Amino acid sequence: MRQHHRTLRLLGSLLLVAAGAGVTAAAPARAAAPTPLDRVVPAPAAVHPGGSPYRITRGTHIRVDGSREARRVGEYLADLLRPSTGYRLPVTAHGDGGIRLRLTKGVSGPEGYRLDSSHRHLTISAGSPAGLFHGVQTLRQLLPPAVEKDSVQPGPWLVAGGTIEDAPRYGWRGAMLDVARHFLTVEEVKRYVDRLALYKFNKLHLHLSDDQGWRIAVDSWPRLAAYGGSTEVGGGPGGSYTKAQYREIVRYAASRHLEVVPEIDMPGHTHAALASYAELNCDGVAPPLYTGTEVGFSSLCVDKEVTYDFVDDVVREIAALTPGRHLHIGGDEAHSTSHADYVRFMDRVQPIVAKYGKTVVGWHQLTGAAPAEGALAQYWGLDGTSAEEKAQVARAARGGTGLILSPADRIYLDMKYTEDTPLGLSWAGYVEVRRSYDWDPGAYLPDVPASAVRGVEAPLWTETVENSAHVDYLAFPRLPGVAELGWSPAATHDWEDYRVRLAAQGPRWDALGIGYYRSPQVPWPAA
Ligand code: ACM
Repeated sequence: MRQHHRTLRLLGSLLLVAAGAGVTAAAPARAAAPTPLDRVVPAPAAVHPGGSPYRITRGTHIRVDGSREARRVGEYLADLLRPSTGYRLPVTAHGDGGIRLRLTKGVSGPEGYRLDSSHRHLTISAGSPAGLFHGVQTLRQLLPPAVEKDSVQPGPWLVAGGTIEDAPRYGWRGAMLDVARHFLTVEEVKRYVDRLALYKFNKLHLHLSDDQGWRIAVDSWPRLAAYGGSTEVGGGPGGSYTKAQYREIVRYAASRHLEVVPEIDMPGHTHAALASYAELNCDGVAPPLYTGTEVGFSSLCVDKEVTYDFVDDVVREIAALTPGRHLHIGGDEAHSTSHADYVRFMDRVQPIVAKYGKTVVGWHQLTGAAPAEGALAQYWGLDGTSAEEKAQVARAARGGTGLILSPADRIYLDMKYTEDTPLGLSWAGYVEVRRSYDWDPGAYLPDVPASAVRGVEAPLWTETVENSAHVDYLAFPRLPGVAELGWSPAATHDWEDYRVRLAAQGPRWDALGIGYYRSPQVPWPAA
């Protein structure tokens, strides 16, 4: 046994030397060098390579400390590894050796982790279950792409030796799915959640209502889902989540350490609600359902008291389904609401959100009203957004409003990559992979203190998106770049280095069945 370990260690070092020198190893393919510790997206904060690799074998156990949370992460890891390795990988609180998951104090921050790899152990330590979970995602990326397959693969399953110490730059690393323009099923949303987890995202923002559809059951206003959810862009059947289905999304996201941030957009983008209830309209007449793609034509009736009863009921029911802190009230493109009415509306609606225990998030137009204490504004402007509008956002940020950055000409995932992209829109321009990655959230908006920036979020609007294949094609390969902007220290930001790490993800996406855009800016390995 000892002899075996020494040989393995020696072989590992030789392979590392060979890989470092750019030599093609003469060894058989089965003994390929493990992925270098820094070949991970998002880039870890600190990497210290060295020592012999760890190898997962038929005899490997996953050792967890006694906590239920660590066991849950251990079971998740075992479920990830079993199909492709074909190993049993028992999860146990007893014994030593193997893959060890440890909840320990003193590992940096609420989501940080440390990964130590050597020939005897692979240890992930973290101060929280979320940190352990993110460490598991790093381990996953250090294993060969074939680990993602759902049938038994030959291996070997080596993890390079050394240490990673890692923690995120920002606490908000979000992705938004618009399930209103085209409805996406619970299974499709879960699939996206799993994509997000691989890159350490921690917020799933669901855009649950818009002109074309209302997608969540509200018991006190049942026609919202039953009628307002009955179509979508292009006139398809639409759909909506029952409360049980929505809870299932929330539970699944939580199991991947993502907070679901529900959005009910108001006072604009409300045509589906206005079509469902005549009394919500200023003229008392319900318009027909809408299946086009114009924006800015609908508004709740700011002068009617029933509007605030409606908002109170909806916010109460959605808040009750939401274990997370945040509730998004939209507020964008309220072009059919006067400025004075918009301010009045937000003055009444924000306290309702607070009454039900939630923190307001709004699109950055909210900064044109009076953002509530602690509110977050989501910036979705572009290079061409007016200086006044940017200054208004900056003033709010200096006054204490936190910012989530979603610049449309950088990280709106529904923008086409080039004029030839078969899906997507182009009102914010074409957004190739480099443009999407190559900016700094901490220094993006003038006169905004860096501390006001709480993170980044990549919205995916679905006017042209009808299913998971469409989602994947627009999200990949841009989505991992957003993850890196949100997670990695600014000092690691480097396009030339990133494009190589990103290229290495391609075979992983192939193994996962993700159909992605093969951007010519990225040196993908030959298929
Ligand atoms: C938006 O794109 N209307 C937020």
